[in-house]
Amino acid sequence: MRVSRPRESLTVGNLSIMHEIKVMELDGGEAAGVHAAPALGPWRPFPSIPAWPSFLSRTPDPSTLEKAKETADTSAVSISHAVLDKILAQMVIIVPCMDESPEIIEGVLSGIPHSCLIIIVSNSTRKPSNDGYQAEVEMLRNFCGSRRQALAVHQKDPGVAAAIKATGMPELIGADGTIRKGKGEGMILGLILAAALCPERKYVGFVDADNQVPGAVHEYCRTYASGFALYPSSEDQHIMVRLRWASKPKARGDTIVFEPEGRSSHIVNNWLNQVLSPIADTATSDRVVVTGNAGEHAMTMCLALKLMLAGGYAIEPFHFIDLLSRQLPSLSAVPSSASSVASYNSDADAASTSSSRASDNSLEASHVRILQIRTRNPHIHRPSDDSHISAMWKVGLGTIYYHSRELSSLEDLVQPGEPRDGGITTMCEKMLEFVDEHDSSQTSRDPAADGAHEKEPLPAPRIYPPIERLDLAALGDALEHGGVADSLKQFGLEAGWASSRALERPPVGAGLARVGTAVARFLYLRLRAFLGL
Ligand code: GDD
Ligand code: MG
Repeated sequence: MRVSRPRESLTVGNLSIMHEIKVMELDGGEAAGVHAAPALGPWRPFPSIPAWPSFLSRTPDPSTLEKAKETADTSAVSISHAVLDKILAQMVIIVPCMDESPEIIEGVLSGIPHSCLIIIVSNSTRKPSNDGYQAEVEMLRNFCGSRRQALAVHQKDPGVAAAIKATGMPELIGADGTIRKGKGEGMILGLILAAALCPERKYVGFVDADNQVPGAVHEYCRTYASGFALYPSSEDQHIMVRLRWASKPKARGDTIVFEPEGRSSHIVNNWLNQVLSPIADTATSDRVVVTGNAGEHAMTMCLALKLMLAGGYAIEPFHFIDLLSRQLPSLSAVPSSASSVASYNSDADAASTSSSRASDNSLEASHVRILQIRTRNPHIHRPSDDSHISAMWKVGLGTIYYHSRELSSLEDLVQPGEPRDGGITTMCEKMLEFVDEHDSSQTSRDPAADGAHEKEPLPAPRIYPPIERLDLAALGDALEHGGVADSLKQFGLEAGWASSRALERPPVGAGLARVGTAVARFLYLRLRAFLGL
């Protein structure tokens, strides 16, 4: 693959938001500028680099590829097939699905490069007369044959929920004892499975199940790998690759218009850029963020484990809010970042979310890079009506609105010690006017989430603690050996998954003890639920 050379970034503390990079060539040939795959170790936090090297930087990214071998063409970088293949072989692709036809999902799977491990997380309807998940599992079985590695799980499997609750993340579980509804929650479940069951895989990416163009899916996965290949240094352990589609085709009368941006993305990008405008270069401040809503994104596992994550469709825009908030100087002075995040979760789980945030320092201290890459294929998926779109952009604006207090300290970066001019507060007032004027959804509910948080006029996102909080080894053992998850199916992994995980496990005795504990806790919880305790 050949991509344009990343040149500029907006840097806030240790966070670099790289400006848009473009896919130049789907196949960049072998005369490549990047020959070495990144040297990522296991998920140990990388030793901290000094904090605040130059707190705020709008200059060209200095570290970009300087160590990579230059090609004659300095405006682009080619990544060799061998490097891409090496990264893809360490990647998990999570496919959240809900009531797509198995044929459509199979088309998506057909586009995922062979060496990627697939995890399908389904929230499809399950009725005795019409079990959507059963049909998906059958499709997956046929698709995988003996050659593909895949896992499938149903989001509403009570056994999976109980095991996750018992091993450290009760926040994800709703009142019915299953994982909450929501696209974000499905993605979080996928991440948890990847972390617990496939710890040898160093990268994780997402692809929606309703994509109608398998070739586009293939491009997305290779683009993720290209993004990771751009930063081969072992210091770059925390990378997120977010995709901006080439276009979003829409039928208008009897013609197809290739819109450059989706309706929701247009709005959410615009407001995220307004948040950043006090610190961005005025010439580029309207295009720092071009992937606010990027459903298609990928991360190093190292990063995925440490992020706070939002539920529903807030998951993608919230990445920016979480990563920015961790860099803001007022965080130390205003410890309420943690408590204010927790306060959005108005239920009893909030306190544990807060304490998890407070104890998580490693992302604040190490370099994090967000890459935004524009792909070549148009994005064609299940059409959405106006009210779905309105509800989605309101979810995106809600992530900004309910975090405005932390984000207001962005102004301190340009005028330290000066009285604030209330920029973000004023912006939020304008945001509410915008909502009044443009909202057609008549609801503030996230269309794909258990919406407990309806604070008019925008929906507040539900925020979950980082996945590293879980006892992943115990969870992995309970899921793999404990027989607790009826819906969990694996294909092509018999020979691989247990043995590869054994490399990372403590001695057998300790492993068995943990299995016993996890299973005992699970059975105890089931008994309590059965007795109504
Ligand atoms: N497991 C699971 N659980 N999957 C879900 C759920 C859920 O509760 N809700 C939705 N999905 C699946 C859908 O079946 C689909 O395959 C995928 O998640 C995306 O959901 P859509 O409802 O099709 O989202 P969209 O097309 O409106 O929006 C997409 O693009 C946006 C950017 O334009 C999503 O990826 C958004 O997250 C993204 O912001
Ligand atoms: Mg869709």
